[in-house]
Amino acid sequence: MGAGIAIVAARAGFRTRVFDVRDDALARAREQTEGFLRKSVERGKLAADALPQIMAQWSGTTQLADLADCDLVIEAVFESLDVKHELFSQLNTICPEHTIFASNTSTISITEIAGGSGRADRFVGMHFCLPAQLMKLVEMSPGLNTSESTFQQAWAVCEALGQKPVKTQDSPGFILNYFLIPFNNDAIRLVEQGVAEAADIDLAIKTAMGYPMGPLELLDLVGMDTQKLLCEAMHGVTHEPRAACPPLVRRMIAAGHLGKKTGRGFHVYADRKIFGA
Ligand SMILES: NC(=O)c1ccc[n+]([C@@H]2O[C@H](COP(=O)([O-])OP(=O)(O)OC[C@H]3O[C@@H](n4cnc5c(N)ncnc54)[C@H](O)[C@@H]3O)[C@@H](O)[C@H]2O)c1
Repeated sequence: MGAGIAIVAARAGFRTRVFDVRDDALARAREQTEGFLRKSVERGKLAADALPQIMAQWSGTTQLADLADCDLVIEAVFESLDVKHELFSQLNTICPEHTIFASNTSTISITEIAGGSGRADRFVGMHFCLPAQLMKLVEMSPGLNTSESTFQQAWAVCEALGQKPVKTQDSPGFILNYFLIPFNNDAIRLVEQGVAEAADIDLAIKTAMGYPMGPLELLDLVGMDTQKLLCEAMHGVTHEPRAACPPLVRRMIAAGHLGKKTGRGFHVYADRKIFGA
């Protein structure tokens, strides 16, 4: 997810530092970014000379200190409050006063993450959609202590990135997942009950509703591990029965069928890259 957000930033002309704790994750992100941009050129969506310019804006690092001159840090690390608190508390000692911190979290409260950042007034939720480099929507949410000026600055950056921001409260699921989680779970339950095959459910939804992707194809991209976290967060707050995690998701996680990233979810994939076109 972070690699896609970095493409959006570099493509919009921002100097972009990509931090990960793992070298191999950075190498993969760089390779997939170049691959994505090459495909964009082949499809006539990007001028050929723009590719090296975008890559020149992109640099990877495993040293957090290299983020010391960033004006905005968008965090997209593993979905754990402890991991996010640890990261932001270190960043708070590294980044200057004016740096705004943002989280791409799908399920954790922005106010709670901000509470462990040391700068809750300069903290905002920026929830991109997967794959970020193709999807324009960003759900922007202030935490309880976010200053109006921080929110406005982050909103302006989001527009400068060429994205489409919408404002939402700091609430699990924000807007999009409030609808998508129960809907996607309904599709999973149809598979669970043996009503239809995954391919037929996807085809039905795409054909009748004009969606570019079926719900089970989308779930394969999102990952069953992420879907489980999303369900738990949404169901914990709304108690909506359709938001409860379907047992099949837990079984698929146990079997390693996480979706495209493991080569198998509701569908089987020869290519595990999540970047597409
Ligand atoms: N998957 C989705 O559909 C989706 C959509 C929107 C938002 N999100 C959010 O994006 C975030 C990341 O989700 P993901 O699916 O990309 O997760 P992921 O597990 O695929 O990737 C997380 C990355 O974070 C890195 N990482 C772990 N700990 C780190 C640390 N301390 N510092 C730096 N990097 C660290 C890992 O090496 C890995 O590359 C989560 O907050 C999730 O809620 C995910």
